[in-house]
Amino acid sequence: MKEKIIAPSLLAADFGNLQRDIEMVNQSEAQWFHVDIMDGVFVPNISFGMPVVSAIKQHAKKTMDVHLMITNPDQYISTFAKLGATNLTVHYEACSHLHRTLQSIKNEGMKAGVALNPHTPVDLLKEVIKDIDIVLVMSVNPGFGGQSFIQHTYDKVMRLKQLIIDQNADTLIEIDGGVTTENAAKLIKAGADVLVAGSFVFKAENQTQTIKDLKTLANA
Ligand code: DX5
Ligand code: ZN
Repeated sequence: MKEKIIAPSLLAADFGNLQRDIEMVNQSEAQWFHVDIMDGVFVPNISFGMPVVSAIKQHAKKTMDVHLMITNPDQYISTFAKLGATNLTVHYEACSHLHRTLQSIKNEGMKAGVALNPHTPVDLLKEVIKDIDIVLVMSVNPGFGGQSFIQHTYDKVMRLKQLIIDQNADTLIEIDGGVTTENAAKLIKAGADVLVAGSFVFKAENQTQTIKDLKTLANA
């Protein structure tokens, strides 16, 4: 079985000590950095923009997994490629021409991800699943860290996994929102490959150990 991935979300880091928190992730067993971009329009919150992403890139030594919670993401694809994103995920709900958007992301040399809000059915990806490297399943409503996990996510992940198997695709399933050691193992069992964790990691007393705990559960 392929190794399951832990992606700490920097949204929950201490921005006054961002370099310190990035180094913690560098030294940990996590494989990806999850970077949340919010525009205050697609979601009711603003996170941070390009200068901060560029600062993150200077220190982060691992895969940069960028999650765009913005309207009109096409406008910024090449910008994020230049900023050093490895994976670029756009929201299904923000794209009128998703197939074209996916091709543009890949043409810029990045892995292409599609995020689904909690109300968006997985079936809507049926015609494009083979073109998607990562499906990010939102397990909270996007916009804020620290929210509680939506239980319906397990069923949704199982349906998505089946869709991927049926079409013989090699798409990864990423879960974002409210991930803890309580739900990690069950999410993996349902079919998840990547677990994003913000508050659970950064609010923990021992952050490195918390990442290790999540990774052990995910790979048990
Ligand atoms: C929410 C973001 C998440 C967020 C997760 O809109 O997409 O990546 O950082 O935070 P937690 O793990 O605290 O729910
Ligand atoms: Zn995210």
